[in-house]
Amino acid sequence: MVTSRARGGPDPGRRRHEAVRPPAGPVGRRAEPSGDARRPGGVLEARGLHKRYGDGESAVDALRGVSLELAAGEFVAVVGPSGCGKSTLLHLCGGMDRPSSGTVTVDGVGLAELDDEGLTALRRDRIGFVFQFFNLLPTLTLAENIALPLLLAGVPRGDGLARARAGANRVGLAHRLEHHPARVSGGELQRAAVARALVHRPALVIADEPTGNLDTDNGGRVLSLLRELNRETGVAVLLATHDPALTAAADRVLRLRDGVEEEGVADPHLARIGEVDVPRVLPV
Ligand SMILES: Nc1ncnc2c1ncn2[C@@H]1O[C@H](COP(=O)(O)OP(=O)(O)OP(=O)(O)O)[C@@H](O)[C@H]1O
Ligand SMILES: [Mg+2]
Repeated sequence: MVTSRARGGPDPGRRRHEAVRPPAGPVGRRAEPSGDARRPGGVLEARGLHKRYGDGESAVDALRGVSLELAAGEFVAVVGPSGCGKSTLLHLCGGMDRPSSGTVTVDGVGLAELDDEGLTALRRDRIGFVFQFFNLLPTLTLAENIALPLLLAGVPRGDGLARARAGANRVGLAHRLEHHPARVSGGELQRAAVARALVHRPALVIADEPTGNLDTDNGGRVLSLLRELNRETGVAVLLATHDPALTAAADRVLRLRDGVEEEGVADPHLARIGEVDVPRVLPV
């Protein structure tokens, strides 16, 4: 098992914590979060995650023992070459898929203890998602899309839309509220997705390549928003990226290679010097 290690984080003490916050209440009934901006304790704890897709000769071991912790307010980037397991890790941490072995705890709730309905409720109530291709519903307006986590949790439509308007305002979309996704730009769509991810004040935001489909300017704007909202609300953010700007903005970086944290790849013939693997015995 490999444990994520901080690289240049501002406060190493935040990485490790003794206590896991107890559940905030029955999952699925918490339509109105408690409102505490910076929740104490761990928001995400992933331990020894393995994920095997398929079986037999075609089996793929996408994750081979990855552990990770996020405290409230942390902003952590997962990086590594295509196919190294970034999305798989995010899917497991976000309760979108279950590990082959290992455990995930989100906001004090062990995901293994939840049935599929409980997992759906936890995703809806405590996690916000941002995807590379926005994933807004085409038949809803931007306001309705942003309000969706609230409406699904049973918040009255008027209240939900009012909070969506406030969220849209915060991400600079007040003038696009009644537009449908097909009528707005990619940058605007992703800012709407960021507002949707935050509207229900989740404990954790999971973002898979949130700037991957945007030009530099729009990507920078989405990055700034995510970072600002993370600092304002104390929401923990876990994102996968190939974008050096996002990596540079993170409190910590988890580098994966072939399903393990990069330092876990022990090739006896190579030594790691800085960012480079070099042969231990140089040819003569
Ligand atoms: N549903 C699946 N079934 C079978 N194999 C899968 C599945 N999802 C992912 N994989 C495999 O698992 C490995 C990790 O994939 P993953 O999508 O997590 O990588 P990634 O780091 O997110 O890559 P990228 O940077 O291209 O998004 C890859 O070898 C991939 O082909
Ligand atoms: Mg991916």
